[in-house]
Amino acid sequence: MIPSRVSLLESGPRDGLQNEAQPVPAAIKIELVHRLQAAGLRNIEVTSFVSPKWVPQMADNAEVMAGVQRQPGVRYAVLTPNLKGYEAAVLSRPDEVVVFTAASDAFCQRNLNCTVAESIDRMAPVVEAALAAGIHVRGVISTTVGCPYQGDVTPAAVSDVSRRMKALGVQHLGVADTIGVGTPRKVQAAMEAALQHYDLATISGHFHDTYGQALSNTLACLELGIWQFDASVAGLGGCPYAKGATGNVATEDVVFMLHGMGIETGIDLDALVDAGAFICAALGRPTSSRVGKALLAKRA
Ligand code: HMG
Ligand code: MG
Repeated sequence: MIPSRVSLLESGPRDGLQNEAQPVPAAIKIELVHRLQAAGLRNIEVTSFVSPKWVPQMADNAEVMAGVQRQPGVRYAVLTPNLKGYEAAVLSRPDEVVVFTAASDAFCQRNLNCTVAESIDRMAPVVEAALAAGIHVRGVISTTVGCPYQGDVTPAAVSDVSRRMKALGVQHLGVADTIGVGTPRKVQAAMEAALQHYDLATISGHFHDTYGQALSNTLACLELGIWQFDASVAGLGGCPYAKGATGNVATEDVVFMLHGMGIETGIDLDALVDAGAFICAALGRPTSSRVGKALLAKRA
């Protein structure tokens, strides 16, 4: 069942940087995207068209999108929480828009200021407009194994939200462990719930590494045949509405594991480590990637 090739979506410029307290200049974000695409990443989540009052770090969304020198074959994605965000986003010509909700009302309320049901109503016109414009629509469900406010989340809740997103026409589904509390069997159960409505070609895992479980959870998903995952270079990030949650699993760590298993990614690990070192130097802090640390130490 284990796939021979995995496709990674790089979320560092968006999920990785959205939570940074200090403003990160647009030029640095643009350079990060350039380095990531040079390292072989073919799916890059660049920014979010969300309220700048809610997430000030993403206020330079249009500037960043305009500054990226696009490479053929790379898909550039942006988050669009509502029609206002979508209308601003399309001016930047994204290849993909990302609509998002949660499997728990309590988190959705904090993140999007509405219930899950309301967020799906709000998502509907975005999905419709994007599909009509020929823009790929990815959806993400947060808190699929645990919620910082509600606690446990059931696979039934994940299945229900997946079904509703599928009915709207959302083409791809990301299953997210926002706060990194998932362990392999729980994550498999959440994935199996989503797989009731999406197939292996249209589903991906998005695991934050707060409790150090993300690589194990990735492996557990590979065992189900899942071959698409999100990750953040240098393990950057966290969600502003999930206090204490750390970044996504580091892209370097996932790539090292996959290559070690003989699974192709198309990614040049050395160039990826350089991209991680670049952004960590810009932020003035060490990398959170274990593999990044190890390879940098080996070079020195
Ligand atoms: P709201 O306050 O309910 O919205 O926020 P509203 O419609 O009442 O509008 C309030 C103000 O925001 C108005 O401006 C609107 O024009 C403006 P004002 O009249 O006060 O000057 N506004 C916008 N401005 C720019 N872009 C927009 C936009 N929409 C309204 N799109 C809203 C609702 C969705 C806007 C807000 O809740 C929001 O922006 N939330 C941010 C959510 C976010 O970015 N969270 C982090 C990303 S999700 C994540 O990290 C999880 C993920 O990684 C998966 C995982 O790990 O779980 C994907
Ligand atoms: Mg996330």
